[in-house]
Amino acid sequence: MIPTREQCFELIQRHRMMPHIVRHSEIVTDVALLIARKLNDSGQNLDLALVEAGALLHDITKTMSIKTKENHAETGSELLISLGYPAVADIVSQHIRLDPGSSAQDAVTEAEVVNYADKRVKHEEVVDIEERFRDVNDRYGDKFPDLKARIEENQLETRLLEQKIFSKIDISPEQLNDILSNP
Ligand SMILES: [Fe+2]
Repeated sequence: MIPTREQCFELIQRHRMMPHIVRHSEIVTDVALLIARKLNDSGQNLDLALVEAGALLHDITKTMSIKTKENHAETGSELLISLGYPAVADIVSQHIRLDPGSSAQDAVTEAEVVNYADKRVKHEEVVDIEERFRDVNDRYGDKFPDLKARIEENQLETRLLEQKIFSKIDISPEQLNDILSNP
């Protein structure tokens, strides 16, 4: 089962998501849907309702995690499983790091699209991967030196994912922002 857009916003309200995280999630959703539609135009078979719900809910427990320091990819996923949305839970669990070995060269998954879209939205702004990771590094890498290597690995994986996605569609990573601001 996949929650509708309306049900996603009910959940967002119920979990008292901070307004800037709601806005971030809406922009991630716009980016993810644009990419997913382009991929489908070129022969992929992505479930757009799943992409939409996964993107809207990817940070569903982030507000809480700021206080509790819980891993919000894990707790968000557990919450969605408990609500009967296992497919959305899987996307949320992979929104920071994709499961190793889950990627195939010829197909792009809903989890990959949401993961990539989140890496293109810094707070409420569409940016390139380098800028997004610079911000992550400033906020976490400098404070927690043992995270630095993991962040670098994640950036490299994201660059490879970007190459894979954009090898299949007729727009470039740089064009995303323009297309979203001039629909
Ligand atoms: Fe997140």
